[in-house]
Amino acid sequence: MAVQPIVPIGDPVLRKATALVPESEIGSPNVQRLIDDLIDTMHDAHGAGIAATQIGVGLRVMTVEVKNNPRYPYKPAIPLTVAINPVATPLDDEMVTINEGCLSVPLRGDLQRNVNVEVSYFDRQGRPHTEIKRGLTAGTWQHECDHLDGTLIVDRIDPRTMSTWEQFDRHQRADFIERISTFVDRIGS
Ligand code: NI
Repeated sequence: MAVQPIVPIGDPVLRKATALVPESEIGSPNVQRLIDDLIDTMHDAHGAGIAATQIGVGLRVMTVEVKNNPRYPYKPAIPLTVAINPVATPLDDEMVTINEGCLSVPLRGDLQRNVNVEVSYFDRQGRPHTEIKRGLTAGTWQHECDHLDGTLIVDRIDPRTMSTWEQFDRHQRADFIERISTFVDRIGS
């Protein structure tokens, strides 16, 4: 295990766009260790995803995984995926309002995400992938790609919907879960 401390909002590293990883460096010990640290830290914090900036590294690397996640029990499963130099491109104008949280931000709130995106990235073996992501899974990818561009959820959240996790549980959770479960049933992800 190499769980790293998670960088909180306010640290400038979260606001800098990350550098691309040269393809020839993907197999290097430094990049492979970064990937292992991201996976361990994501698991330890029960994140649905994590970006390298969140452990203080300015490289374009992220991981996602959802499997019985206690922070986000309504999220459909996502297999463990390592994405190097990921890009998420909207496929159309369909949007959904999602109440999102972030390991680096002690608040959550409503924001808009594209429902249908195409993602391209390299895996940890350096193989290229291009895939379509939909629904909440597409939202998770957009959230992590935002991190790698120096963007945080507070930039996108409707400020009047911001809440602590405790107050979200008390006042918003039931309605949100009902609405988003209907959406997940329709979209299938
Ligand atoms: Ni985040």
